[in-house]
Amino acid sequence: MNPFIIDGRKISAEVNDETAQAVAELKEQHGVTPGLAVLRVGEDPASKVYVGMKVKKCEQLGIHSVLKVLPETITQEELLAQVNELNNDDKVHGILVQLPLPSHLNEDEVIDTIDPKKDVDCFHPTNVGKMLIGDQDGFFPCTPHGVQVLLERSNIDTTGKHAVVIGRSNIVGKPMAALLVQKAKGANATVTICHSRTPNIAELTQQADIIVAAIGKPHFVTAGMVKDGAVVVDVGINRVDDDTAPRGYKLVGDVDYDNVAPKCSAITPVPGGVGPMTIAMLMKNTVKAAKSINNI
Ligand code: GUN
Repeated sequence: MNPFIIDGRKISAEVNDETAQAVAELKEQHGVTPGLAVLRVGEDPASKVYVGMKVKKCEQLGIHSVLKVLPETITQEELLAQVNELNNDDKVHGILVQLPLPSHLNEDEVIDTIDPKKDVDCFHPTNVGKMLIGDQDGFFPCTPHGVQVLLERSNIDTTGKHAVVIGRSNIVGKPMAALLVQKAKGANATVTICHSRTPNIAELTQQADIIVAAIGKPHFVTAGMVKDGAVVVDVGINRVDDDTAPRGYKLVGDVDYDNVAPKCSAITPVPGGVGPMTIAMLMKNTVKAAKSINNI
């Protein structure tokens, strides 16, 4: 089978164009410039790359950005004070604390401190709850919603399909399953979640019309786990050593792409699949926050 390659670069560019248009309209018609604050604690190399990409995308779309780089040694109280300062900053409509945080910090308490109106990640319990009950006016979590938009804009119908999500993280697996099961556009799927304690994951993935791999293990999904004609979405971004690559590593997904792709009707590549969608949805949420805070 020759699979349809779901082009995350193209679809994210379309979403970003729409966001740039919305930003321009907000400025012209309401005098409001959407603002996003990004907090990074410490020097984790992957976090540095992701945060840099987020700030750069803000600049490209006309969104005001505030980057706060905080020392690895920051205390919980100091970090919460930084978040509270941003909660009270009228120029900031979205606040993102890049995860993971150093182990001495309490992530849950940090997320709880973000004003839910500015929680563009959709990590705050209030927003997770709203999402779960199907509130269409709130925020949607960036990566899972990005997957949904990829499928929708690739004309892949999820209604009545069996979607198997591999991974149960709060950032991807759990909210992904929650979105796909909603009675809503781009959803209405029958959803199974697999995780590290699921015996015989292959038995479940073989029954899937749609597989979303978000387990964080390179090449975890092999050809034998996928039924002919399935749609495979790869959320994984894993660094693996590669002496031939300029940086000494390359990025691979959770799916053994070369062997899985020939069995699929559609598949996302890594890179160029889900990755760029996460940032596009973050920008869209920032505009949503700016509108909502300003009653627009
Ligand atoms: N770390 C990995 N993915 C994400 C994300 O989507 N948001 C935040 N804040 N941290 C992350």
